Amino acid sequence: MDRLGDKFEGINHDHPFLPESFTLLYHTDFYGRLTAEQQLYYNQLCGAMTNELSMFLEQELINKVLIRLLHHPKIVAIEDFRVCLLNMIGDEKEHGGMFEKLNQLCFPELYQHSSFHFIRFGFRERLGFRLCLQFPAQLTFVIWLLLIIEEYSMTLSTAVLKDHGNGRLGPVDGLIRAIHEKHLQDEVGHVFIDIHLLRTFFETSAPWAKKVNLALLKAVFREMTTPKRANRQVIRQLVRVFPELKPMEEDMIRAMIGLKDDQVFQRDFFSRETLPRTFQLFDEYFEATDLIDTFPAIDQARPHASNPGKIVLADNY
Ligand SMILES: [Fe+2]
Ligand SMILES: [Fe+2]
Repeated sequence: MDRLGDKFEGINHDHPFLPESFTLLYHTDFYGRLTAEQQLYYNQLCGAMTNELSMFLEQELINKVLIRLLHHPKIVAIEDFRVCLLNMIGDEKEHGGMFEKLNQLCFPELYQHSSFHFIRFGFRERLGFRLCLQFPAQLTFVIWLLLIIEEYSMTLSTAVLKDHGNGRLGPVDGLIRAIHEKHLQDEVGHVFIDIHLLRTFFETSAPWAKKVNLALLKAVFREMTTPKRANRQVIRQLVRVFPELKPMEEDMIRAMIGLKDDQVFQRDFFSRETLPRTFQLFDEYFEATDLIDTFPAIDQARPHASNPGKIVLADNY
């Protein structure tokens, strides 16, 4: 955040906060029925919600897994790698502060009392989370989740940086671009750390343990890719500000939830293009081929006949 400290001056509310294709409603017929002003506000709310999600996943999932693994003998044995994990934990803390500050700047009225406005987890979800994170060296599906989350966040940041405002809403705000640039720099290294963690813990586990973990990953991933409360809350907030949308509120929510079964949408979001390293690892681990059914982009996900070769760990992770 320090490197961006002097840039945290203001945000331009005339610009979108995300490329439009990264917002759910954009993929439904309802998006075209919104005015430009409504589309812009919806886009900005989605940006804030995405920041919340990043904060939550990086603090509550990624960092908790890493902190657990720091004491594992396989990590303790390689001091350089342990230092990498420590640096990554520091990076994620910094990102959390960055996204929190950004959201307060974007919507001070929504984040007056809490860092989370759209994202909330119930007791059952929190308990499940806590249990899974207790044993990441055995429940290695959480390490797969780390890779998927971080690779997807790289895809998002890359899209923000490549967005030159060809859409109806114009280019993404400059401060947000700078934040994604910083985030992308760090996440590239994190993805290689995730791959190394998979090599260390998943690759060396027993065949039955791999099967169990891939089954768990499949279940959790399907759950994660189903639009839920946070996305509904974004639409509710949109309607609160534009009450003329009230008559189509429930239809908009239904259309958005329906995206979970929309093959084209799912293929755009979870594919070899958006998660290249994850898919390469699916190919590499024969046991993971079952998992591709989780991704509707099955045609892209079929393992190649030839061995794709191992992803090599970067020297400077
Ligand atoms: Fe991050
Ligand atoms: Fe990260």
